[in-house]
Amino acid sequence: MRADHSGRKEAREEGQEARRLLARAHAENAFAAGEAILEVRDLVKHFPLTQGILFKRQVGAVKAVDGVSFDLHKGETLGIVGESGCGKSTVAKLVTHLEEPTAGTIRYKGNDITRASGRALKAVRRNIQMVFQDPYTSLNPRMTVGDIIGEPFDIHPEVAPKGDRRRKVQELLDVVGLNPEYINRYPHQFSGGQRQRIGIARGLALRPEIIVADEPVSALDVSVQAQVVNLMERLQDEFGLSYIFIAHDLSVVRHISDRVGVMYLGKLVEVGTEAEIYEHPTHPYTQALLSAVPVPDPEAEGKRERIVLEGDVPSPANPPSGCRFRTRCWKAQQRCAEEEPLLAVPENFTDTPVDQPQRHPSACHFAAERAAVVPPAGG
Ligand SMILES: Nc1ncnc2c1ncn2[C@@H]1O[C@H](COP(=O)(O)OP(=O)(O)O)[C@@H](O)[C@H]1O
Ligand code: SF4
Ligand SMILES: [Mg+2]
Repeated sequence: MRADHSGRKEAREEGQEARRLLARAHAENAFAAGEAILEVRDLVKHFPLTQGILFKRQVGAVKAVDGVSFDLHKGETLGIVGESGCGKSTVAKLVTHLEEPTAGTIRYKGNDITRASGRALKAVRRNIQMVFQDPYTSLNPRMTVGDIIGEPFDIHPEVAPKGDRRRKVQELLDVVGLNPEYINRYPHQFSGGQRQRIGIARGLALRPEIIVADEPVSALDVSVQAQVVNLMERLQDEFGLSYIFIAHDLSVVRHISDRVGVMYLGKLVEVGTEAEIYEHPTHPYTQALLSAVPVPDPEAEGKRERIVLEGDVPSPANPPSGCRFRTRCWKAQQRCAEEEPLLAVPENFTDTPVDQPQRHPSACHFAAERAAVVPPAGG
């Protein structure tokens, strides 16, 4: 009787265990390649502009990010590109919870993490890590690289118990292509490229799922940029990482990105795959950015048609009405001042078959394909 009872209990426990494993496998599958691991909707960050010393009053707001939406899929690299001041770093800080959004939502694996706090925030911070632009200022000069890379373990000791830290840090140095014996050296003893490898090792320490890299190669020599980009591609495969890779130059993100989003004055103006953005851009701003990218072939370079953007980027405290790009757009018409174009497949492409690369989201009333990088045929 007793044996029979414990047998039933065992069977029930086995059943529960099987269901638990099944549920876990299901949860993991739900975020297998192709599923959105991060969903950002209508994200807004306004920094208040104040006046007065004793009695501060708000006189306006810097609209750094003003309604940005995108998905990041598991294992994907989303490139984000735009001129300085368009809000790229603010997007990075919002996604990594270094800044609180004014409005909008961020979902991670289906859970709303926009205003996460306590344990939930700690988990988010572990899983979504940032790699900063400037390896000179983002690394503390008085700490050894061992302490810099191992610092995240102070907050998450469960990842590397005290006795195991040195070995873990040396493993990380090795993973990013640095000699593990350099563990006691200081940042100034490394080159710029090596310092960025240290920043990447630190970003990897907690085994995150998402890395937001804010202009990780912009401060580096061109020859070193490719090495760091290659390293990041290798690490992505090795650790199954998803990247948001920010740059101010379209050519830097071309080969690492699965999709690219182009930002202007706090908004995304065009989003697409490599072929869609680089070969079939439909937004005048993307076309202008691409026309400024030099072509390696000297003959093609000579024939290249450049679109020169006139004027400065307007202040994000006082953006133009309608389309924010209209003050610099050579195609601007009255409608552009009155009606804001939304990021969607433009109306003149809605009849285009879905598999055609010109059919992709572009926030322009007069979107038209223009092969900006390729010189005109026969010209
Ligand atoms: N903490 C802040 N307070 C006020 N304004 C800010 C702050 N951070 C950024 N900004 C402003 O927001 C805009 C976008 O900045 P940023 O996100 O750094 O752009 P990017 O990274 O594309 O150069 C800029 O006009 C910048 O001056
Ligand atoms: S909506 Fe008008 S101003 Fe804006 S990009 Fe298109 S043509 Fe230019
Ligand atoms: Mg920036």
